[in-house]
Amino acid sequence: MIALTDVSRTYPGGVAALASVSLRIEHGELVAIVGPSGSGKSTMLNVVGTLDRPTSGTIHIDGYDVSKLSDNRLSALRATTIGFVFQSFHLAPKVPALDNVADGLIYTGLGRAERRRRAAGALERVGLGHRMDHEPHELSGGERQRVAIARAVAGDPRLLLADEPTGALDSVSGAGVMELLRELNASGTTIVIITHDREIAAGLPRQVRMRDGTIISDTTAVAPEPSWPAETGVPG
Ligand SMILES: Nc1ncnc2c1ncn2[C@@H]1O[C@H](COP(=O)(O)OP(=O)(O)O)[C@@H](O)[C@H]1O
Ligand SMILES: [Mg+2]
Repeated sequence: MIALTDVSRTYPGGVAALASVSLRIEHGELVAIVGPSGSGKSTMLNVVGTLDRPTSGTIHIDGYDVSKLSDNRLSALRATTIGFVFQSFHLAPKVPALDNVADGLIYTGLGRAERRRRAAGALERVGLGHRMDHEPHELSGGERQRVAIARAVAGDPRLLLADEPTGALDSVSGAGVMELLRELNASGTTIVIITHDREIAAGLPRQVRMRDGTIISDTTAVAPEPSWPAETGVPG
């Protein structure tokens, strides 16, 4: 789903936010990105999400070398393949939940009625079928993040990128959001989550640890060779 090869991102002024990072994430994975503040986590998520271009190196998303795509094709890839969730929700104020989600589908070219139908489905999916008419200020933090997740997944993206999605939530709401992300992953969405929360990270199947713009550890398990003759199957 994601392949970064020797990706660097240097900001004007010389900060090497990413320094020759290589990383593969397969379809269907659920991955935590951890590391201290300033270690390059958001920069990496932004280049993966094609919101930012690397200074050097190559990025493949769903098989496409994104450096070879025109801005239009890149926007299309983003709209159809990638969903984003941020710590601070990024919902439009004074706009009902249903429209906040439906407006996220404008770039799909679907008609308004179909956008609203899909938005309603996405809100049902995140457990907010009873809050569709509520504006962001009439929702709790956890509910706002659920609306943001509904917006991110309404177009059925294969990849969901979340930058500290529980960072602004109390622990109970945060746990609810994590449960929702796990459900989405179980139904096939590849998910990459940046988190400061050690407990959340420890509970995910794979943890990539960053420091000073590099990956210092990655718990990817290599599939073990069976230690018994294949034809006898699993012992017991
Ligand atoms: N737009 C920017 N311009 C200049 N430097 C930046 C910019 N964004 C991030 N940085 C720097 O790049 C480094 C990595 O930042 P970031 O990816 O946001 O880290 P993290 O998400 O791990 O906290 C930091 O040193 C940060 O100050
Ligand atoms: Mg960050």
